Amino acid sequence: MAPILAHRFDKKPIVISLGGSILVQEHIDVAYIKKFNDFIRRQVKNGRRFIIITGGGRIAREYQQAASAVRKVSNFDKDWIGIHATRLNAQLLRTVMADICTHVVIDKRKKLQRLTKPVAFGSGWRPGASTDHVSVSIAIDYGAEVIINASNIDHVYSADFRKDKTAQPFNNLTWKQYRALVPKEWKPGLSSPIDPVAARLAERHKIQAIVVKGNDLENFERLVTGKHFSGTIIG
Ligand code: UTP
Repeated sequence: MAPILAHRFDKKPIVISLGGSILVQEHIDVAYIKKFNDFIRRQVKNGRRFIIITGGGRIAREYQQAASAVRKVSNFDKDWIGIHATRLNAQLLRTVMADICTHVVIDKRKKLQRLTKPVAFGSGWRPGASTDHVSVSIAIDYGAEVIINASNIDHVYSADFRKDKTAQPFNNLTWKQYRALVPKEWKPGLSSPIDPVAARLAERHKIQAIVVKGNDLENFERLVTGKHFSGTIIG
């Protein structure tokens, strides 16, 4: 769809929920990480600040499935494996941006009282939701009004576009409309643009979410610089 949306960010840090699926497909996407690193550094030079929460993506699911293939594993334990996958991805990016980011990864609430560097990384926190939920919590804690959900889909659709050819992309949705589209309950490895627990928290705290395709860095750049971009604004 045409880039018609726009969002003006205030001076607060820009909170990004970065899907694990765009960092690692079959292998770690080093070419993407290079470009993402350049992109963030360019924005930092222009005075922007970021908190980036990395997902676990394929690594999380593969490890969760491997454990379950051996014996019956509780959802709680599957979530913990997923959390460790998100931590590994956070450490990868933290290492790449070590000179511009805080060395501590925000792996639980209130871990970092003050943001002393332009970039900070976060990972999964607790079982029961995904890194979307962490991102919304971080937005609340650091006073941001919006989270960017950068994953492998370009919009929220009316149905699963991989299975349903009639699925339509949305530009705007209220949280109520969004919640009617996705499952109500959480389960480990659940694949929905924003997980339902995070959606409820965002709605309660009036946090918006902007869904964009994370590997389209030109569009991503237009979004963070207040230009017209393509994606879905929820809330
Ligand atoms: P992700 O946030 O990566 O979820 O967490 P995802 O749906 O795989 O998102 P993409 O693919 O990266 O975009 C991976 C798994 O880690 C556990 C959950 O099991 C989740 O499915 N997790 C993550 C938690 O239990 N708590 C958290 O705070 C974060």
